[in-house]
Amino acid sequence: MKGKKILLGITGSIAAYKAASLTRLFIKAGAEVQVLMTPSAAKFITPLTLSTLSKNPVHTSVIDESSWNNHVEMGLWADAMVVAPTTATTLSKMANGICDNVIVATYLSARCPVFFAPAMDLDMWKHPATLGNLAKLQSYGNHLIPVGHGELASGLVGAGRMAEPEDIVAFVSKHLTKDNTKLAAKHVVITAGPTFEALDPVRFIGNHSSGKMGICIAEEAAERGAKVSLILGPSKLSTNHPNVETIRIQSAQEMYEATVERYATADATVMAAAVADYRPKVVSTEKIKKKDGEMAIELERTKDIAAEVGKQKRSDQINIGFALETQNEMKNAQKKLIKKNFDFIVLNSLNDKGAGFKHDTNKITIVDRDNNIQEFELKSKQAVAADILDKIETYF
Ligand code: CTP
Repeated sequence: MKGKKILLGITGSIAAYKAASLTRLFIKAGAEVQVLMTPSAAKFITPLTLSTLSKNPVHTSVIDESSWNNHVEMGLWADAMVVAPTTATTLSKMANGICDNVIVATYLSARCPVFFAPAMDLDMWKHPATLGNLAKLQSYGNHLIPVGHGELASGLVGAGRMAEPEDIVAFVSKHLTKDNTKLAAKHVVITAGPTFEALDPVRFIGNHSSGKMGICIAEEAAERGAKVSLILGPSKLSTNHPNVETIRIQSAQEMYEATVERYATADATVMAAAVADYRPKVVSTEKIKKKDGEMAIELERTKDIAAEVGKQKRSDQINIGFALETQNEMKNAQKKLIKKNFDFIVLNSLNDKGAGFKHDTNKITIVDRDNNIQEFELKSKQAVAADILDKIETYF
């Protein structure tokens, strides 16, 4: 953290008292700290304490008594902005651009990575409004510092505590010291999410893939300096990372075309999408009306994207596949590795709790062509993406 410029935004939560040790820890790690506070944060901890610890003036509004605090300049000065604690109010203001205090004004001007460490009671933390705001901030590329679990100021026990200052410093430091040049000048193509195969103008055959694993891989590759093409099926999720070009598609055929078009310039291609293997043979132009009795839909095979790019693969390219299995996991994964000419395959089993669809976590095993088998613990999908990118880097 030596020489890193940290803008610390403190908002009005009881956890604000921890901001003093957070400031000290950042400084101890070699960083320079400028503190911004909301007026309600100043009721929990005094600006004098924080200006003494940070050795810099503390701003509690865009306009102090006789001067204007240049939030644009502060936003551009910082290597990282850390909002800790982040209350439900500030979370909502950041998510929606409600710029009525010095922290949000600076946040909207900042070009640096932004980290936020929420602090709230367990029911507030679980509320759909909070979850929606969290998702919005993450979709802007801001980094959530996970909350802790334990006794809360209300006396209730659950999730919602602000992460401990040591953990916040470690989280930010890990991010800022990450080598973002390892994949510089590399082009990474990623397929992600489900595909929807139309039956008629209103119905389709699809699956439960959220696209989250592929998006995490795209963001991690982009963080390491790669130029990323993310070919994404119908997913509610998205990424705003500046190094990621997102190509939105619906069907397996569209995903196939978008992938093949970009494949020639790809250094690594990661096929994380849950591509439909079959599509209706006939797509009705009108909504299909129900009739008496049963109904059968004739299906035909879609193109196998992985197999096709496996055939085109040059010696300077690597292809990575996924296998989601429910039985004979390892044997099936090894078969797919060979059949589709992958360099390695990422296996996840639906039998593992917390793995696969609909989870924010995943548990993977990586198998390569030399039959090296690496098993990983259950982790967040971001951490799994880092493991996959570590493996990709060994090929370059
Ligand atoms: N895949 C693909 N195009 C398809 C089907 C699959 O690119 N039409 C890719 C997936 O993205 C994944 C790998 O192939 O990386 C394995 O997918 P999976 O569905 O597990 O394999 P299938 O070959 O479809 O075999 P099965 O469904 O019978 O298990």
